[in-house]
Amino acid sequence: RSPAMAKDPVRVLVTGAAGQIGYALVPMIARGIMLGADQPVILHMLDIPPAAEALNGVKMELVDAAFPLLKGVVATTDAVEACTGVNVAVMVGGFPRKEGMERKDVMSKNVSIYKSQASALEKHAAANCKVLVVANPANTNALILKEFAPSIPEKNITCLTRLDHNRALGQISEKLGVQVSDVKNVIIWGNHSSTQYPDVTHATVGDKSVPELVKDDEWLKSGFISTVQQRGAAIIKARKLSSALSAASSACDHIRDWVCGTPEGTWVSMGVYSDGSYNVPAGLIYSFPVTCRNGEWTIVQGLSIDEFSRKKLDLTAEELSEEKALAYSCLS
Ligand code: NAD
Ligand code: LMR
Repeated sequence: RSPAMAKDPVRVLVTGAAGQIGYALVPMIARGIMLGADQPVILHMLDIPPAAEALNGVKMELVDAAFPLLKGVVATTDAVEACTGVNVAVMVGGFPRKEGMERKDVMSKNVSIYKSQASALEKHAAANCKVLVVANPANTNALILKEFAPSIPEKNITCLTRLDHNRALGQISEKLGVQVSDVKNVIIWGNHSSTQYPDVTHATVGDKSVPELVKDDEWLKSGFISTVQQRGAAIIKARKLSSALSAASSACDHIRDWVCGTPEGTWVSMGVYSDGSYNVPAGLIYSFPVTCRNGEWTIVQGLSIDEFSRKKLDLTAEELSEEKALAYSCLS
């Protein structure tokens, strides 16, 4: 493209931008990893007043890095200023869990943030803004955001389970000794929590099915599943901090595929508003296999679900229904 043909900048909001995921994520966005190497961006960064000085430091570093695609930076502690005119909102702001906690233990602190930021987004974001919630409990925070921003179309509000999806790809690639990019069509069903169901029933490497190649049903049904379910906790134990670079990278994958489309014949996992597909109760934000085209996701239909999988899909749905009730009790 000649400069005369340059695209208009896209405004991308990152909340919690002074935190550790924020610090990994904003340079990826400014380098074009989220929206493409020819897409200029203006970064909107929000954090809370105690983090204002650190946020300003991140802004200084963004200037110092001289990213050619970065056309502006808004760094603020004012949610309205942060949300104004944004086309993409990546909601990372909140409190991470520590060792020994479940993600729902951060519920009361985090859902109230999502209730209040829902209004700021609803009133001030660009029409058709795409929202990705990363902060935990991610599915339930996204649901609260959706419910308190009724004018944002429900198809525009999603949560991150792409990290779990990528973790599943990584485990299969290591087990089979194949390139991670050759593993396709794993699925994360349900909650971004230890009840999620990483499913390889339909996954492939080349023209072969993953269960056929792995030839170890016992591992696929126990060790593999629990490794993916517990990976967040394992990283907290090892780093004494929750995952950050992999979370940031997966957030870029999520938005890039949503905006630019998934390759023919492949799907990805996204936490989206359930329409009752696969008998998952409608009205939950639940991770499904989706394909994306023209900026819209569609749940992949017609996949066979065996008895083992059915139980796992239902278990994680039950947890999400419980979380929804708990979230409302925290807000009342
Ligand atoms: P962090 O504590 O390093 O950063 C969070 C930032 O959010 C802090 O700078 C904090 O000041 C800010 N913040 C708090 N309240 C805010 C508010 N009301 N508005 C704006 N900013 C606010 O945490 P982190 O490691 O970056 O993790 C952020 C969140 O992402 C946590 O909830 C964590 O559990 C979650 N997470 C999710 C996934 C996933 O796959 N879905 C992966 C990793 C982490
Ligand atoms: C992760 O999956 O790494 C994050 O959700 C952080 C956590 O609390 O596990």
